Amino acid sequence: MKYRRLGTTDLCISVVGMGTWQFGGEWGKDFDQAEVNDMFVAARETGINFIDTAECYGDHLSEQFIGRALKKKFPGERESWILATKFGHKFHEAFERDVVYDLDGVRKQLEDSLRALQTDYVDLYQFHSGPDEKFDTDGLWEMLGRFKEEGKVRHLGISIGSNRNTYQTGKSVQVDSESIQVVYNYFERGPEEEVFGICQDQDLGVLARVPLASGLLSGKYAPGTTFDSDEVRGRWGKKDQQQERLREVERLVREELPEGISMAQWALSWCLKHPAVTAVIPGCKTVEQVKSNAAASETGLVLDNHPQTIQS
Ligand SMILES: NC(=O)c1ccc[n+]([C@@H]2O[C@H](COP(=O)([O-])OP(=O)(O)OC[C@H]3O[C@@H](n4cnc5c(N)ncnc54)[C@H](OP(=O)(O)O)[C@@H]3O)[C@@H](O)[C@H]2O)c1
Repeated sequence: MKYRRLGTTDLCISVVGMGTWQFGGEWGKDFDQAEVNDMFVAARETGINFIDTAECYGDHLSEQFIGRALKKKFPGERESWILATKFGHKFHEAFERDVVYDLDGVRKQLEDSLRALQTDYVDLYQFHSGPDEKFDTDGLWEMLGRFKEEGKVRHLGISIGSNRNTYQTGKSVQVDSESIQVVYNYFERGPEEEVFGICQDQDLGVLARVPLASGLLSGKYAPGTTFDSDEVRGRWGKKDQQQERLREVERLVREELPEGISMAQWALSWCLKHPAVTAVIPGCKTVEQVKSNAAASETGLVLDNHPQTIQS
């Protein structure tokens, strides 16, 4: 596993992290604790130390799975994990959220996240893809700064909703935020136009989310595949675009995939080649996916001379 400094923070994160939206139950699968525990053991074995979750992956459900897994499998080792969560969305029921950025609401979300994660602090607390007017909520960033002084939050980040949001990206340093989370993958290259440059100018960490294009870049779905409405790809995905992408993946597998690596690993290392990108955070559903994704760090396609690389 390779490790990189996340922007100006003192966090040394694995270039492949683990996304955990899946634990919330909106991906056509309900998890049990034993399986999540095994996924964390696999993460440790393969060098993954960075975990991305959120308040609304279930009603703090993903965070609860993580908190219990760390307590059970790694008691007393909280500091060896870097936990990133988010604020701003309140889960109602599957696929339904409220937008909550008022100060009392955010304070409560942090307390609920700390309780669910069974920890005293969050390593990275991210503004969760809110609109610009919520970003500018009076007193919000001052309050977040106080969370840092109180030791409840180590660093602040912004998960931008649109992958072209230059407003929030540009204000990062001003609000003491040190990382940007953005959709970036082979099909979604919008951040290359402006957002990445702004991140590099401010030395922000960049977390590439949805790096597998919601699994379409895994290579396991043939054109013609459709997804059920009980999962996010069936609910929110654009059907024509999915088919177009699956046809392109079929071509990539046929014409561009080097021997010996999987399509998913190729897709993750493709993101990691960009000098602005610190880490990818593929969402995982099984132990095998955790292991396979971690191995993307070692495909030989990931640059060693990345500006944020930490020599081990
Ligand atoms: N606004 C935000 O801040 C925001 C929004 C979205 C996501 N995120 C974060 O980013 C993370 C990643 O995004 P995502 O989960 O939406 O999309 P993704 O990482 O592009 O795709 C995840 C899906 O790909 C499949 N997969 C993963 N690893 C695989 C492997 N090795 N081989 C084959 N298939 C594999 C799994 O689904 P199947 O096995 O069912 O195909 C998995 O559910 C999330 O978990 C979450 O932490 C944040």
